[in-house]
Amino acid sequence: MKVLVTGAAGQLGRELVRVAGSREVLGLARADLDVTDRGAVAEAVGGLRPDVVVNCAAWTDVDGCERDPERARSVNTEAVGFLAEACDAVDAHIIQVSTDYVFNGEADTPYSEGHPTDPVNAYGASKLAAEEASLAWDGATVVRSTWLQPADSPGMVERVVDSLVAGTPIEVMDDRRACPTFVADLAPVLIRLAEERVAGVVHATNAGVTTWYGFAREVALAFGLDPNSEILVPISEDDLGSSLSARRPSYSALDNSVLRDLGWEPMRHHRDAIASAVARITAGSA
Ligand SMILES: NC(=O)c1ccc[n+]([C@@H]2O[C@H](COP(=O)([O-])OP(=O)(O)OC[C@H]3O[C@@H](n4cnc5c(N)ncnc54)[C@H](OP(=O)(O)O)[C@@H]3O)[C@@H](O)[C@H]2O)c1
Repeated sequence: MKVLVTGAAGQLGRELVRVAGSREVLGLARADLDVTDRGAVAEAVGGLRPDVVVNCAAWTDVDGCERDPERARSVNTEAVGFLAEACDAVDAHIIQVSTDYVFNGEADTPYSEGHPTDPVNAYGASKLAAEEASLAWDGATVVRSTWLQPADSPGMVERVVDSLVAGTPIEVMDDRRACPTFVADLAPVLIRLAEERVAGVVHATNAGVTTWYGFAREVALAFGLDPNSEILVPISEDDLGSSLSARRPSYSALDNSVLRDLGWEPMRHHRDAIASAVARITAGSA
């Protein structure tokens, strides 16, 4: 299977290229392929003739998208149409990576794939339109995930560990809930979806629903420290005042019902993924 990963310098793109193993995989970063350039997209996909394109390219700055919805539409929506069109021309499978932000956050149980969408910000709207642009083509797959955590660069785990070690208080949001998902666990699922050419909308997250404060407490526990430490300061979105320009869904956990119905092993709990990340950090600093 020949895999083309766009947005390959991003946290998910890098991990996909890393886990592809013996499969023929080509990662194109923005410097190699700007997905908003329709001609360049047609040339790259037409020339490389991959079996599957996994689109990890996106403008993921949620507040930036709110300020500049035109750019959000160009990168997050229009470019996906170019990629899907180019895939169709060479009979390649497109996997479009999407987000929990297509939902409005008013639910109190995990969203299944068929739940009505209703984005509350420009980023979510641009990603929802991208879903529609890709699903217009037969066999396309949309994979929604939440709160991605990197494998090879500092993320939330490192921020919390650094604060705990330095004894510097860190404010963490305690009024939004979702499923923190580690790209190290998501990337193999994307590869398998590509291999099995699973079509349609698929939710793929680590198991477990929590807030960022809950996440930080799990990091403290995995690090052998007091999860009730005053270093971890729970705050609410309101405490941030006007520093966030885009509204966010307050609840955006995803039910992985399609994967469950396929009989796939659930992705591990985020608690176990945190423990692995903390063990890696600890080993690295020993
Ligand atoms: N991060 C999350 O918490 C989260 C949650 C749910 C879903 N997702 C989705 O998961 C996917 C991967 O996200 P991520 O967290 O890996 O994001 P990321 O680290 O921000 O990576 C996105 C990559 O896309 C690249 N890019 C931006 N504009 C481009 C263009 N015009 N042409 C080509 N590449 C371009 C960026 O390059 P530059 O850095 O050079 O701009 C960046 O390397 C996205 O579809 C995102 O919507 C993310």
